[in-house]
Amino acid sequence: MSELAEASGARPQTSLLQAFVAHAGHVSDKWEHYIPVYQAEFARFLARGRPVRLLEIGVQNGGSLEVWSKVFPAGSSFVGIDVDPKCAGLGSPGVTIRIGDASDPAALDAMLGAEAFDIIIDDGSHRSAHVVSTFEACFQRLKPGGLYVVEDMHCSYWKSHGGGLRRAGASIEHFKDLVDALNADHLRPAEGPIDPGEVERLKRLGRRLLRVTFYDSLVFIEKLETEKHAPYLRVMTGAEAPVFELVDAVTPDPRAVRSLLLGPAATNLFAPTLLEKLATAMEAVGAARSEAGRWRETAETLRAEADARGEDTDALRAEVARQADDAQALRAEVARRAVEMQTLRAEADRRAEEAGALRAELARQGEEAQALRAESARQAIEAETLRAELARLRDMPRWRALLGRPPA
Ligand SMILES: C[S@@+](CC[C@H](N)C(=O)[O-])C[C@H]1O[C@@H](n2cnc3c(N)ncnc32)[C@H](O)[C@@H]1O
Repeated sequence: MSELAEASGARPQTSLLQAFVAHAGHVSDKWEHYIPVYQAEFARFLARGRPVRLLEIGVQNGGSLEVWSKVFPAGSSFVGIDVDPKCAGLGSPGVTIRIGDASDPAALDAMLGAEAFDIIIDDGSHRSAHVVSTFEACFQRLKPGGLYVVEDMHCSYWKSHGGGLRRAGASIEHFKDLVDALNADHLRPAEGPIDPGEVERLKRLGRRLLRVTFYDSLVFIEKLETEKHAPYLRVMTGAEAPVFELVDAVTPDPRAVRSLLLGPAATNLFAPTLLEKLATAMEAVGAARSEAGRWRETAETLRAEADARGEDTDALRAEVARQADDAQALRAEVARRAVEMQTLRAEADRRAEEAGALRAELARQGEEAQALRAESARQAIEAETLRAELARLRDMPRWRALLGRPPA
């Protein structure tokens, strides 16, 4: 244990250690290295002797709340939140239990309102999404200078808890992001393309952070006593620089000079060079300003030209639109005529067919007339023959009378 304490930078302070070892009440469940880490991290709260307000998410058997209530200064108050209603009866003097889902910001609002705490420990579901949403909802409930702790961060590497190694959305990634937020003031566009919105987000996040400390399975986030609204100043002190001319490391940029905090001796040492650098920088700024003026004029001329071109372009665009309308109308007319032609062609085909049929009928009737005519001629001949026969027969009695015998 002493090795672990040393590894974590903890100075042995028996009270917390002893309290865990000697604890005989409700069961608490922690990993061995958590105790010396807690001892070191909570040392200032324990040493100060002032009551603290501590919120623990995840009560279970109430063991850790019992230990906290034994070690923190008298008058401290403890709030435990658990989703399990069976925890409701685990309150005791100074210890309040609230039942609800700590991953739900609305439930947290209902349970905590605007209460603020010196220490918040998340030992709840350990699901990545829950850890993140609880942090988002509770970090604002941490007092300035307070400590936010998340236990069992190893779950962030487990699929079963919505995590995975370097997986987006894993809770450890959320806290790694805070490390970038801590350093956001040092992000420089010249170092490579960075989305300005992202830089702003990180700076906003970093304003309230003093540190983010990772241990095996634990992360501690300490809130600044006062929000940081400007980058930290660079402090230089001393009067001699025998090896390296430190003033050369300061860029001749008024912003860099403004970010310096010089001790009196250092001011004497650096002032002449800095003033010289500033004068040069001011000259450069003047030159840059007149160059910018020239560019502005050029831009103005180009803008006027672009406006003029814009008008021409508008007229051309209107003409093109008009011609497009005409073309559209013509296309519609051509399509209409094509349909008309199609109809006429079909009508002509129908009439040609009808004429063909009539012609065939005419030919058939001509043939019939011819046949009739032949028949009629044949019948005329036959009639003539009959008439002659008849006449012959009519003449026979006369012949018989004349000759007394039939003609041979
Ligand atoms: C690891 S135990 C807490 C152990 C306790 N802190 C200790 O050290 O003795 C986790 C507890 O978190 C609770 N829990 C799980 N999900 C929760 C949630 N979304 N909101 C609140 N509590 C939750 C469980 O019911 C369980 O009692």
